[in-house]
Amino acid sequence: MGRSSKDKRDIYYRLAKEEGWRARSAFKLLQLDQEFNLFTGVNRAVDLCAAPGSWSQVLSRKLRGQEEKGEKGEAGEEVKIVAVDLQAMAPLPGVTQIQGDITKVSTAQEIIRHFEGQPADLVVCDGAPDVTGLHDVDEYIQAQLLLAALNITTHVLKPGGTFVAKIFRGKDVTLLYSQLKIFFSGVTCAKPRSSRNSSIEAFMVCQNYSPPEDYFPNMSNPLLDHSYDVDFNQLEGPNRVIVPFLACGDLSAFDSDRTYPLQLDAGKQYQYTPPTQPPIRPPYQEACHLRKNNLLSREDSPSVCPKQSQDEPEPLTETT
Ligand SMILES: C[S@@+](CC[C@H](N)C(=O)[O-])C[C@H]1O[C@@H](n2cnc3c(N)ncnc32)[C@H](O)[C@@H]1O
Repeated sequence: MGRSSKDKRDIYYRLAKEEGWRARSAFKLLQLDQEFNLFTGVNRAVDLCAAPGSWSQVLSRKLRGQEEKGEKGEAGEEVKIVAVDLQAMAPLPGVTQIQGDITKVSTAQEIIRHFEGQPADLVVCDGAPDVTGLHDVDEYIQAQLLLAALNITTHVLKPGGTFVAKIFRGKDVTLLYSQLKIFFSGVTCAKPRSSRNSSIEAFMVCQNYSPPEDYFPNMSNPLLDHSYDVDFNQLEGPNRVIVPFLACGDLSAFDSDRTYPLQLDAGKQYQYTPPTQPPIRPPYQEACHLRKNNLLSREDSPSVCPKQSQDEPEPLTETT
């Protein structure tokens, strides 16, 4: 397979490189914004699970762009963006990075410190665990990550603020909807055009943060415990939480499930573009080192890394 074959198979992967985004997921946030106008009046934003950083790039371009045009939010405050991830991330202009875990209260405290005690207007989370391929396990871990994101959000978000988070629409999704509904008056499940139809990924857009009276944020709290023992999908009538589902992104936008020719427009010749930002310490680095130095135990293993890993690390994965 040539290096252009992925460009042919994945139009958003190709466009991300051409437009300078670190991952194709940038288009998901841009398309969510087209529908929900997420950035208006936002001065303080948090990007949870941010690496390699394409959502932070979107936040930086949009919010600092607004600031430059003089479209500031309340009291003309300065824009502040905080990005959190377990992984290191290459620096981005106007974005403060915290290399940390979103399940830790110390991370919430660090965010608040950076905002000088002020709450955030917007929290976004594109978090995903390393998928195992066992669907039930992957869905469960993704749900736990979403709850962790919701939990840290309750520490840092202002009343009336917005929370956007990736969700896998698996069988326990109704339980998650009902938990989100406790904290936000507007909860919509949205599917941007750049997210493949073949994937169960979608995004929860939760508007107007309004926690229950006397709710006290606490990292160890199970968010007003909705027990997994109840099968929420079996509930009916007013007991069943249903949220609107919205497809977003212009209908004329590219279809992420289609293959497009390399030359998209007749007047412009296709030219290969390398990824915008090679990953920092990718997980395969150690394996490459072991293999190169013949330190792997299998006798039949080749002594060099796969060509692509050596020459062309690709931060733009199928999941991003
Ligand atoms: C799909 S990537 C995010 C892509 C990113 N939104 C972008 O546009 O570049 C998912 C990220 O979630 C991060 N992650 C998973 N669990 C985490 C946790 N508990 N705390 C912080 N980050 C986490 C991973 O390290 C990974 O970088």
